[in-house]
Formats: sequence, C-alpha cells, structure tokens
Amino acid sequence: MPISFANRDLINIEDFTNQEIEAVFSLADEMAGSLREQSDVCRGMIMASLFFESSTRTRLSFEAAMNRLGGRVISVVEMGNTSLAKGESIADMARVVGSYADIIVIRHPWEGAAKVVADYADVPVINAGDGGHEHPTQTLCDLYTLKKERQTLEGLKIALWGDLKYGRTVHSLAYALARFGATIHFRPGPGLELPEHVVRKLTTEYAGRLEKYDGVEDVDEKGLFPLDAVYVTPSGPHQLANIPAVGIQIELERGVDALYVTRLQKERLDTGAEGQEVDKSYRVVDKRLLGEKGFEDTIVMHPLPRVDELAYEIDADPRSMYFKQAERGVPIRMALLALLLGAREVDIPEKRGQPFEQERGYPVYRSDTGLRCQNGTCVTSQQTETRYIRPEFQMVSREPLTLRCAYCEHEIHPKYIASSKWHQGIAENKRYYYADSFMLGRIHPENLIIFDSEDDALARGFKLGKRLVHG
Ligand code: NCD
Repeated sequence: MPISFANRDLINIEDFTNQEIEAVFSLADEMAGSLREQSDVCRGMIMASLFFESSTRTRLSFEAAMNRLGGRVISVVEMGNTSLAKGESIADMARVVGSYADIIVIRHPWEGAAKVVADYADVPVINAGDGGHEHPTQTLCDLYTLKKERQTLEGLKIALWGDLKYGRTVHSLAYALARFGATIHFRPGPGLELPEHVVRKLTTEYAGRLEKYDGVEDVDEKGLFPLDAVYVTPSGPHQLANIPAVGIQIELERGVDALYVTRLQKERLDTGAEGQEVDKSYRVVDKRLLGEKGFEDTIVMHPLPRVDELAYEIDADPRSMYFKQAERGVPIRMALLALLLGAREVDIPEKRGQPFEQERGYPVYRSDTGLRCQNGTCVTSQQTETRYIRPEFQMVSREPLTLRCAYCEHEIHPKYIASSKWHQGIAENKRYYYADSFMLGRIHPENLIIFDSEDDALARGFKLGKRLVHG
C-alpha cells in the first residue's frame, strides 16, 4: 500500500520505523539509478537550509539533493548573519522561515533545537545535527551503506569507535542498530563513553543486554578492544534468553561487520583538562590494526570529516567505506526530501511484528516549578529560549526517580517531591518529601510536583514532611 510521509518531521532516528527506513532506501535506490532525471519531482518547492554549525557534506548533499529534485534552496550558514544573533528565539525564527519555505533542514549547536523548530514551524523539519544529541540523516546514510555492503540490516555486529560521548552520529546509529537487532561493541576514547541516557535507552527500550568487558589490558596492545557491548536480538525482548553466552573477546575474534570510527568532537569538549588529555590517547585506525585477526571482512565506516583517527594509508583498502558513505548521502537525502514534501509516496510491506515500536508510555512531567534540564547545551537552558519553552520530561524510572528531558534526552535525578493535592487543601498541610521515600509511590503522577532543591520547595510554601525516611 502506498504510504505518504507528507508533513512529517525527522528529528530523532526513532521518528521512522524500521520499515520506513527501508522504504527510504528503496526510493534512494531508484533515484540513485537516475539522479539526473528527477528534476520534476520537487519543482516549485523551496528548502530552507539553516546551518548554524560548520558542515560540508550534510549541507551540500541536502542542497545538491534539492537541486537535483528541481526544487530551490534558501540558506543561512552562520548564526552571526541572522536575527538569532540579535537575541531572537528559535521559535520565532522557525515560524517565519516556515512561512518562506516548504521544508526546513536545520543544524544547530544546541541539543533539542531541531525539536523546537519542528514544534513551531508549519512545514516538515529535518534535524541535520543538534549539538551532541542526534544526527538521524547521517544514520540513514550509514545504514544504507551497511545494507549495501552486508545485504541486510538485521543481526549485524558493529564496533563503535572513538567519541561516543559527544558523537551525535553514534547516538542515532546505536538506536537504529539496536532496533534492527545488532550486537554493538563500544570502544570509546578515554572518558568518551556513551552517555548514561543512551545506554539506558539501549538496555531498557530496546531490551539490550549490557555486558561489561572485564578482560586484561594487554588485549588492547594487539589491537583488540577492551570494551563493553550491548546485545539485542532481532526478534525482540522476549527472546533475550536465547542469546548464547559468548564472551565479548570471543565475539571480537570472530570479527565484526563494521568498525564505525568517529573523530574527537573537540568543539563539544568541556574546556580545560578534558580536551588536552583525551587527544593524546585517541586510538588511530591504520593498516596495522586492520591486519589483526578478526578484521579480514570488517568494513571501516566514518561519518567524516576525519582528523587523525583514520590513517590515510587505508583509503585505498577495499574495506574502507567512508567516501562511499558520503557519496550515498545525495540519493538518500533526495528520497527523504521527496517523501516529506509529499512529492513521492512509497510502498511499505505489511507490518511484521516489531516489538520495539510499541508506545513507551512514560508519564510526562511538565515543569512549572522551576525544575530544569541540567545540560548546559540543551535548548531549554538558553536564555533566549527559556522565555517560552516549558521544560518537559519523561519519567523513565521511579527508583531512583529519573526524568529524561524531552528536548536533549539528558537525565536528571531530582531529590524532592510533593503532591499538588495536599491534605484538605489547607496551606498548612503543604509538605514535600524525599524522592526516594515511599511517598513517591503514593502520589498520583498527575498530582506530582518535583523540585530541584529544598529551597525551591520552601520558596513555594512547602514544609518538610514527616515521612522522611529514605527508601
Ligand atoms: C558529523 C557531524 O556533523 O556530526 N559529520 C557529518 O555530518 N557527516 C560528524 C563529525 O562532525 O564528526
């Protein structure tokens, strides 16, 4: 049955189901075969290309894609040239640009900025990278390459290498791989491990099983990785028990399908110590490493740009895929633009059981009490945006109380709670409690008030409740 993607946004990779991703690929295949014959597909339409952070591939491949489809492009390539530099909010910019263009592609250094644009613009919005959060269209290019080189996306074994903390491409890719049932090995640079909220998603929402590596250090000397791994079965959580208990090291010796390398995201490192130290011990992928046992059939991927982490000597190696990955960005983005603009539709096969696509149904907490996301690069933390964004969180765990920011997905663990229905409605009875006391279980989610600090609770007229015992 032909399905329309018209007017949808692509902000997180999870906005598309596995079947929808495969549908984008079939259209990309069709377009790749006749790139120069697509010039009527989006004729008369305008794409706004808003790049507030540096970019070569992503911006140019989006612009090339729209041009090949016969559409037009209006663009901004620097924040300094826009009214954002005058203190305009992202919401206002989104409303206006949405009235000039038929689709918006945005890259911005603040996590969650693309979501704000999508919330306020009346046209489809594509996230071309929001800070260290996500980069879903790079993931489409990455998966497309994996599909071409490995013929399937199901049950792959991938090693993610480098800056797993700030590398937004890695976050989107890890979620997508997990959804297709992958084994993912992590080989972070020092101090650049996958963020806590990403690991939580992989292990709870995708029911991945996290295994911590407990091998000896000299394994690394041979070019193998001391790393952790997440295993997800393609068939879903209920079959987790069927995973054979193979050690991580044995798995690696059997080889991985792909090594996905990323550059150190210097621009996102905390200033000071973090940057200096990490740089020195960042592992380079070179001929010697690829000569190790287990890498015979491993393809090497990289979203580019590379700095020092990929030696030029491996460029000619048939396993090196990074330039092909970039080249495939144009047909992928052509397919995506044509679909979201409603200029093309695609057939999606009958839905097979996809256990990971169920609604997650976390209670949503909207904060009116001053509770905020603690991530300094979240869009909700910015002075220009706090005027209108009401912080929103998903309650992903009650023990310990864990709230996930709906914009950047970073987590907070607030310590104090109260109920908005205090006893007999008498102000004297307004009490707050520790979030790890049993009172959390007593308060209905819709009456729950969560505080950043005791001062916050006191300022709102609450007094410390009697039932205070932790746990
Ligand atoms: C990546 C990005 O911008 O996140 N580049 C890209 O879009 N191909 C990776 C990077 O900058 O390291």
